[in-house]
Amino acid sequence: MLQRRISHSRKWLCRSFSNVLHSEPLRVCVVGSGPAGCYTAEKMLKAHQQAQVDIIDRLPTPFGLVRSGVAPDHPETKSNSIELSLPEKLQQIVVNQFSRAMQHERCSFFGNVALGSSISLSELRKLYDVVVLAYGAESDRDLGIPGENLKGVISAREFVWWYNGHPDGRNLDPDLKSTDTAVILGQGNVALDVARILLRPTTELATTDIASHALASLEESSIRVVYLVGRRGPAQAACTAKELREVLGIHNLDISIQESDLLLTPADESLRATEYTEEFLSCYPRQPPQDQDMLICPMRAGPGKQIAVGTGEFEDIKCGMVLKSIGYKSVPVDGLPFDHKKGIVPNDKGRVLHETSDTAVLEEGLYVCGWLKRGPTGIVATNLYCAEETVSSILEDLEKGVLISSTAAPKPGRDGLLNLLQDRNVRNFSFNDWEKIDSEERNLGSLRNKPREKLATWNELLTATSEGTGYST
Ligand SMILES: Cc1cc2nc3c(=O)[nH]c(=O)nc-3n(C[C@H](O)[C@H](O)[C@H](O)COP(=O)(O)OP(=O)(O)OC[C@H]3O[C@@H](n4cnc5c(N)ncnc54)[C@H](O)[C@@H]3O)c2cc1C
Ligand SMILES: NC(=O)c1ccc[n+]([C@@H]2O[C@H](COP(=O)([O-])OP(=O)(O)OC[C@H]3O[C@@H](n4cnc5c(N)ncnc54)[C@H](OP(=O)(O)O)[C@@H]3O)[C@@H](O)[C@H]2O)c1
Repeated sequence: MLQRRISHSRKWLCRSFSNVLHSEPLRVCVVGSGPAGCYTAEKMLKAHQQAQVDIIDRLPTPFGLVRSGVAPDHPETKSNSIELSLPEKLQQIVVNQFSRAMQHERCSFFGNVALGSSISLSELRKLYDVVVLAYGAESDRDLGIPGENLKGVISAREFVWWYNGHPDGRNLDPDLKSTDTAVILGQGNVALDVARILLRPTTELATTDIASHALASLEESSIRVVYLVGRRGPAQAACTAKELREVLGIHNLDISIQESDLLLTPADESLRATEYTEEFLSCYPRQPPQDQDMLICPMRAGPGKQIAVGTGEFEDIKCGMVLKSIGYKSVPVDGLPFDHKKGIVPNDKGRVLHETSDTAVLEEGLYVCGWLKRGPTGIVATNLYCAEETVSSILEDLEKGVLISSTAAPKPGRDGLLNLLQDRNVRNFSFNDWEKIDSEERNLGSLRNKPREKLATWNELLTATSEGTGYST
């Protein structure tokens, strides 16, 4: 194991921390307005009364995967009619909470500003005392097998963007009419989301905020059989019991599971001791029905560390569509240290590390949060704890005098960002612009008995606020 030496070139302040607080604001830029970015902004604003937080996002719309990932459908909670379904909760609690942070007097949202094209990382670091990267994971893991790039093989990420009205998913146009069989690779919650969207009656989807182009295509879909193919057994499947139950509860759906795939190894049996696994296994129907509309076929897992190993047996499944749902992947921007193997930015509790062969040097003032920091796992709330950790690191560094120089001129912050965007003719979208888009989407939705009709092309989004606020804050 390589010993790593973590080193700073710390500049200790001559004056006290409280003096710094009263003189200049702490200029913070958060890249990405998904859960990680929004929680970071919220925590930062609460923890530091002089913090001025600017959130940039490459999309004109905020909230990341809360808008473009979370599935539009969810059955009503059967056990308790008062309890809200997850999307409603997310809508009401998470989005309201994130909106409050963005509307805070010391916070501003700059949509349509992409790190890497509108502005570079080095430019951003020159403008701000603190830069927190929370731009998620917008690519896909590879299977690394022949045929992966054949026509008809698409990633779940693209499919999710397509049905959720992400402007980069608008042109996907998956062929749902030339086949009756789709195969989904992977057993995580995204795989189950995608299976539900393919299988749920479109009359039920019609009243959700699913993109209208996706609904129209699903209405004409000829897909009747969905294989959900995983490489491990039920004791280790990545999906959660609640999400599995939702798939199993779809009306008029027959489920088939190979009984042999439900057999547990001794190692699985020890896992079964946990309440979670018991609940999970109870979701599987024990008696496969006669008509098979869906087949879940996990491969057997090896003993010990429970790593999936091939059995050497191969099975051909005839299908016209394959959806790869084996996980998302983050991508680096120029000048950012990146661990390509793990697909994350190397970090120490959110502090970005530049790793060389035997040392790891802290990148002063540069932090990371969310999927870009931990990898592409975890629910919305996981990013709250992640943001708390990153913000604690920022505060610790601030107290140690790492972030603000007593001698250098204050950084330009927001004014510098606006000047730079104006020079480049980049039109940014304020939170006020987003509210106009939001209102238009709700109006369009009400005409179709939907909560909202998303503006799903770049052109629609960019022209939605005709007068626009341009370069204003
Ligand atoms: C399909 C799917 C469904 C999910 N459903 C649920 C659910 O029902 N419940 C739940 O609790 N969790 C759910 N999750 C998990 C949850 O969405 C994630 O934990 C969370 O969104 C990760 O937050 P993040 O901020 O790291 O990334 P993201 O939410 O992806 O936010 C990243 C933001 O960065 C922006 N960005 C990207 N690149 C750039 C750039 N170069 N410059 C500027 N901005 C950029 C993006 O536009 C985006 O707004 C789901 C995840 C997926 C993939
Ligand atoms: N409703 C919700 O709360 C909700 C909805 C959607 C997503 N999410 C969350 O978002 C996160 C991302 O979800 P996800 O489904 O993309 O990721 P995930 O939970 O990590 O699942 C990835 C799946 O792909 C499989 N896989 C990976 N590499 C593979 C390979 N080479 N060959 C075959 N299978 C492979 C994994 O199998 P192994 O387990 O064997 O590695 C696993 O089944 C998760 O934390 C999830 O819980 C939550």
